[in-house]
Amino acid sequence: MSPQPQAAVGAPLSRVDGRLKVTGKALYAAEFDVDGAVHAVMVDAGIGRGRITSIDTRDAEKHPGVLRVISHRNAPKLPYRDNSGSNNPPGRRLRVFQDDRVLFHGQPVAVVVATTLEAAQHGASLVEVEYDAEQPSTDLNEGKPGEPTAYARGDADAGLRDAAVRLDLTYQLARNHHNPMEPHATIARWDGNKLTVWDKSQWVMGTHDEIAAVFDLPADAVRVINPFVGGGFGSGLRCWPHTIVAALAARETKRPVKLVLSRRQMYFGTGFRPSYEYRLRLGSDRRGRLSAAIHEIDAETSSYETFTEGVMAPGQMLYSMANVSQAYRQVPLDVNTPIWMRGPGFASASFVIESAMDELAHKLGLDPIELRRRNEPSEDEAKNLPFSTRRLRECYTVGAREFGWDRRNPRPRSTRDGNWLVGLGMAAGVYDPGRFPAEARARLDADGTAVVEAATSDMGPGTYTSQTQVAADALGLTMRTVTFRLGDSLYPQTGPHGGSSTMASVGSSVVDACNQVRQQAIKLAVEDEASPLHGVPAGDIVVRNGRLHGKGNPARGETYRSLLARHNRSHLEARGNYTGPPTPERESYYAYNATFAEVAVDATLGLVRVRRMLGVYDAGRIISPKLAESQAFGGIVGGIGTALLEHTVTDHRDGRIVNANLADYLVPVNADVPEVRAIYLDGEDNAGNLLGVKGLGEVVQVGVAAAIGNAVFNATGRRIRQLPITAEALL
Ligand code: MOS
Repeated sequence: MSPQPQAAVGAPLSRVDGRLKVTGKALYAAEFDVDGAVHAVMVDAGIGRGRITSIDTRDAEKHPGVLRVISHRNAPKLPYRDNSGSNNPPGRRLRVFQDDRVLFHGQPVAVVVATTLEAAQHGASLVEVEYDAEQPSTDLNEGKPGEPTAYARGDADAGLRDAAVRLDLTYQLARNHHNPMEPHATIARWDGNKLTVWDKSQWVMGTHDEIAAVFDLPADAVRVINPFVGGGFGSGLRCWPHTIVAALAARETKRPVKLVLSRRQMYFGTGFRPSYEYRLRLGSDRRGRLSAAIHEIDAETSSYETFTEGVMAPGQMLYSMANVSQAYRQVPLDVNTPIWMRGPGFASASFVIESAMDELAHKLGLDPIELRRRNEPSEDEAKNLPFSTRRLRECYTVGAREFGWDRRNPRPRSTRDGNWLVGLGMAAGVYDPGRFPAEARARLDADGTAVVEAATSDMGPGTYTSQTQVAADALGLTMRTVTFRLGDSLYPQTGPHGGSSTMASVGSSVVDACNQVRQQAIKLAVEDEASPLHGVPAGDIVVRNGRLHGKGNPARGETYRSLLARHNRSHLEARGNYTGPPTPERESYYAYNATFAEVAVDATLGLVRVRRMLGVYDAGRIISPKLAESQAFGGIVGGIGTALLEHTVTDHRDGRIVNANLADYLVPVNADVPEVRAIYLDGEDNAGNLLGVKGLGEVVQVGVAAAIGNAVFNATGRRIRQLPITAEALL
């Protein structure tokens, strides 16, 4: 098979759906105009733990427009078939309106369905719930940890005991919420026993399977539709209780039901990045060679499900050392269940490890980059596998040069700009990009245009655009003549649109499908006596702008259109698939970065301003440079949030989240975001995907918080071992 010319891949193209989005024509879950839809508003539990003793719905039911109030008192029993897929963590998932138990503050305890949103909202405020309240446990530091997940190599205790230099550091990381612009929302409509759901989701198949399990429906009775997602960062990786509530309410009222979470409900109606307490002990020799690390990692989870994420991997493979021990414990609390949030696990671990490396460099009087270089492993010491590609050294070199690292004064509190203390910091980042089985369908029509479909999502990275790019090149068509469709469970199945997996996974299946279609056309041509390409070896033919021709002989050829017309074919079609990485893995596959930050800290007030940021990425082949740059900017902005602003605060007396709104939960705004630069190293990584990509949506956020924290130390001499790094902590 002759390699196709790459015209669209690698070009800095604008989003194919950009116009739809800026003109408001892109429809998000709550925006579908479903005939006869009525509105649902949930009533949230007002206690953090306990039992419902009574629900008085009389006033709500009398309110004009209210159709029905549903709670555990009148809800039907739902099958809630086991479903260990769909990203449900181990445990017993929350079952809406199935009993009188309250497991966390804000849990849905009733839903009011009304003909207007206003009537539903007012009706919800009229529902009187009484409780038998118990004291909730919501403080990570007071909870009782479960059994650890352990990892060990060598003898970390002995390694630490014998180390010439030792650090013992404990970090507290705040809970973060995703806060996408678009709130989670569902419209549910039953047609007999068939259910259609428009739902904000990063995984229409996962939501599809979960709904089928909860209501015990056959797979073909459920359809989930979600063509556009207004940001997700992980919050859409699972089907949340409100989606079930909407479907239940629609079934009970025999009307299509629309349910939109309020911003406040987003803080307990969907998951979050869990808070951590992370103790790290590090040992090294006097030249900075690491000998041992002991990681004690506690993270919050709910009382009913055990959520885990990739927080252990960085401590096992980022730096070379003989002795490592790790214990990762989940602490069940009276909270709703966490979920992955951009750079899940890795972002949290990297703050700890990369802050500690900075402390060690300072203690040893070594440059932080030099310390990292001295501990660069030659293979993955946890998996005992060679790295597919690992170009951290280049990231350091390029980053140091481009950022002006040589201008950094290693002595803390040595650089001033008026009343501002100025500092530079850096950190390494690593992320394990997912590679999930995926299928795609490609169809080339007689008019020379193509449609490619897969049940993935586009939460914002530009999946519509990047998949169109790879499809266009594999088919030999222009961007304009290819349409990529996603966000419908009727399309070929894919894994979740998360874990930086989509280009490697869905992209590979798209290329496979398109390659097959192209080969079908080539075969038709070379076997056809009427074709100018008759008898040309199939492997010598390429397709460009919809025209097949010999590789070295562009003059001899014909178009898809003439070929299909002559053969009286309405279309050519193929299904492609990607089966995931080889098992067992033969290579250690990670994406990397070096992130650099310059901050200024007000010497009097402790206010931190980020002045400049640079990320240098080893993320494999870059399909779409313009989208990749915007991913890096977004990741850095997210990292600034985690570093300096974001903190979900719970009142431990009653388990209520006190800053469940965008006035009190701080996220970076324009004024918080400085000049940002992103550099992607050229190259590709061919560990088990057709495109040479590594996935870049999450590695861009990993290491950002540590780089900022290290810059704050360089500026002020103050080491803050908590996130966010607040002015109060610096005073
Ligand atoms: Mo990402 S946390 O997998 O959306």
